[in-house]
Amino acid sequence: MKKKVYVKSYGCQMNAYDAERMADVLAPEGFIETNSAEDADLIVLNTCHIREKAAEKVYSELGRLRVMKDERTAAEGRAPTIVVAGCVAQAEGGEILRRAPAVDLVVGPQSYHNLPALLAKAKRERVVDTEFPVEDKFDHLPAPSPQKIRARGVSAFLTIQEGCDKFCTFCVVPYTRGAEISRPAAKILAEAERLAAAGVREFTVIGQNVNAYHGEGPDGRTWSLGRLLHRLADVPGIARLRYTTSHPRDMDDDLIAAHRDLQALMPYLHLPVQSGSDRILAGMNRRHTRDDYRRIIDRTRAARPDIALSSDFIVGFPGETDADFEDTLRLVRETGFASAFSFKYSPRPGTPAAEMVEQVPEDVKSARLAALQDALEEDRQKFNRAAVGRTFDVLVERKGRHAGQMAGKSPYLQAVQFDDGEVAIGDIVAVEITETGPNSLFGRRAGQAGASGTIVRAVGANAA
Ligand code: 5AD
Ligand code: SF4
Repeated sequence: MKKKVYVKSYGCQMNAYDAERMADVLAPEGFIETNSAEDADLIVLNTCHIREKAAEKVYSELGRLRVMKDERTAAEGRAPTIVVAGCVAQAEGGEILRRAPAVDLVVGPQSYHNLPALLAKAKRERVVDTEFPVEDKFDHLPAPSPQKIRARGVSAFLTIQEGCDKFCTFCVVPYTRGAEISRPAAKILAEAERLAAAGVREFTVIGQNVNAYHGEGPDGRTWSLGRLLHRLADVPGIARLRYTTSHPRDMDDDLIAAHRDLQALMPYLHLPVQSGSDRILAGMNRRHTRDDYRRIIDRTRAARPDIALSSDFIVGFPGETDADFEDTLRLVRETGFASAFSFKYSPRPGTPAAEMVEQVPEDVKSARLAALQDALEEDRQKFNRAAVGRTFDVLVERKGRHAGQMAGKSPYLQAVQFDDGEVAIGDIVAVEITETGPNSLFGRRAGQAGASGTIVRAVGANAA
């Protein structure tokens, strides 16, 4: 009989990708995926450590799972195996076994390829594996079947680098995910071709510091992200490329030129700035100023005039004054972001900023976050309203909420719903936007794709 695995993923796209890789490793072991913990034989919490009391949340979830485990042992005579994976696993290690009796296995992000062996061992004893092994885990991660790829949709994540060497003073990533490593280009391209052959039409190339990519090329030279994107754009069937998350310091000439030269590279850039104050940027060890950021935006806009921007912001970093915060608001007003994520600074144990003396009171952080989010929301709505009357190419991702409706994404990652029973998932169609809602755009088919200037590719093997 098939066993069932439930993976609950928190946090970033890297974790979403890793959750799929874990399911792929477990598939040959007879595991199928389920959406509910209640009927799972194996429960994996794929945790995130970036903000807030993430570890505490995991412990309370584990408390609930302990109750469930006891109940199922009483009722069925057997209990699910419980695994903690992801960045909390990496950061807390054996502490998790001590504090959470329900846990059978703690596994860090660099050891997922060992899951079958670790699970076998966990039948006999409780296990922790948070090593950073020397071998490349990607070499040992099995490929998903074409059916599985198709079920996951026409837009796929593709990990090209992991870890980070930037050491922003607020961030745990360099500690939890380790030093920056880039996958060799040939391996990325092989994965890309497999995904495209199964019907994927869009790649979001991901990494904690994705534009620091410097992988070995098939020609023996070091490839930049710009170079890699050129090759990915040539993969048959691929119509759209995106990448995330980038650091301003790594927006090199190659990458900016790729925004000019590659129609497939969507005109939407997520480029975290964190703060608009030079003093705070220095305290964060961001190694760029607000002017550096503005110049990068100007150069990218010169290369691709229709580009829209997105960013991450932290308010209430230690030492942030009202004047520093005003600088952030000013940067927002000057730049105009299509969307953004913003957070209250959250001290992470072991990071330099957590030790800084001038911590900002919680109520000040809350007030600043509310003010920043108001400003960002206003810009987001303005950006969405400006879509009305325009025609966008939409990559069709799924059926819409109502009969005859289809749903997909604009080049700017906006969700678009439109009436048309005839188009297929994976098609790219031109849609004239007629209305905006709080979280999506609505429109009607408007002739051939390509009307908004983005690429159209023969659908060929990708007609799903
Ligand atoms: N506190 C608040 N936000 C943080 N981020 C990273 N670390 C912290 C922290 N300690 C935010 C940054 C980053 C995003 C992924 O999370 O804005 O870009
Ligand atoms: Fe963290 Fe800074 Fe690296 Fe981003 S660039 S992962 S914020 S250390």
